[in-house]
Amino acid sequence: MDTQRSSFTAVVTGASSAIGQQVALQLAERGWRVIAIGRDQEALAELGRSSALITPRAADLLTDDLAALLPARVDALVHAAGISPDGGVERTDAEDWSRVFALNVTAGAQLVRYALPSLRRSRGTIVFVNSGAGTAARPRNTPYAASKHALRALANGLRGEEEAHGVRVSTVYPGPTDTPMFTGDVDRSDLIRPSSVAAAILTAITASEDVQLTDIHVRPRRELSW
Ligand SMILES: NC(=O)c1ccc[n+]([C@@H]2O[C@H](COP(=O)([O-])OP(=O)(O)OC[C@H]3O[C@@H](n4cnc5c(N)ncnc54)[C@H](OP(=O)(O)O)[C@@H]3O)[C@@H](O)[C@H]2O)c1
Repeated sequence: MDTQRSSFTAVVTGASSAIGQQVALQLAERGWRVIAIGRDQEALAELGRSSALITPRAADLLTDDLAALLPARVDALVHAAGISPDGGVERTDAEDWSRVFALNVTAGAQLVRYALPSLRRSRGTIVFVNSGAGTAARPRNTPYAASKHALRALANGLRGEEEAHGVRVSTVYPGPTDTPMFTGDVDRSDLIRPSSVAAAILTAITASEDVQLTDIHVRPRRELSW
């Protein structure tokens, strides 16, 4: 795939902040058109001003019409939007459980569902932004870890479903990253930079035609217990 041609179009959720924003910027730098989705209109407008290739689409993935967000052509879909409610099982009510699954898992699955006809035509790539919590649940954020385990299952099942249609599916698992979401008590200079996670996501999207990079783990250079 010649990734420098500007006819390629990516849909990126979570584009109003941190990791998703860096994905949008790096794709635009490589000549991709980007539909940048998030709720924060100001952040999206600023992102849109940084490149003519980026089209901001303000939307709440929990309530808005997801099909209406998609352009006619989709070569890559990156689901980076995510939330991490505070606390474990004891403090998490049913509404919070529903919300974390609805955003982290269901919204990604439904966007994929609506984008599949375009992704099949373009033999495109889906990237789910997972987490270290998607492979190992720790006691501090069980609902988040449960949603990310589900997201991993979604990716692995979908990969098999779409093999015959030429769509490839990647999961990127960032470790602790210097974004508003990460509030752990660590020296923030030890955290991964959002741009480094974005670079790994672009590696999955721009991988050569004969492969799919199924699982990419991005860990800090000096390992942290997160
Ligand atoms: N930071 C870390 O240490 C870390 C580690 C592993 C994995 N991750 C994963 O990386 C991804 C990106 O997170 P981040 O660290 O960049 O966090 P972030 O800065 O908090 O960004 C979260 C993004 O999700 C969007 N979002 C939240 N609720 C939404 C809704 N209802 N509708 C639409 N968009 C919504 C936010 O946009 P609006 O607020 O504008 O809606 C924002 O763009 C997430 O999936 C997260 O689980 C993060």
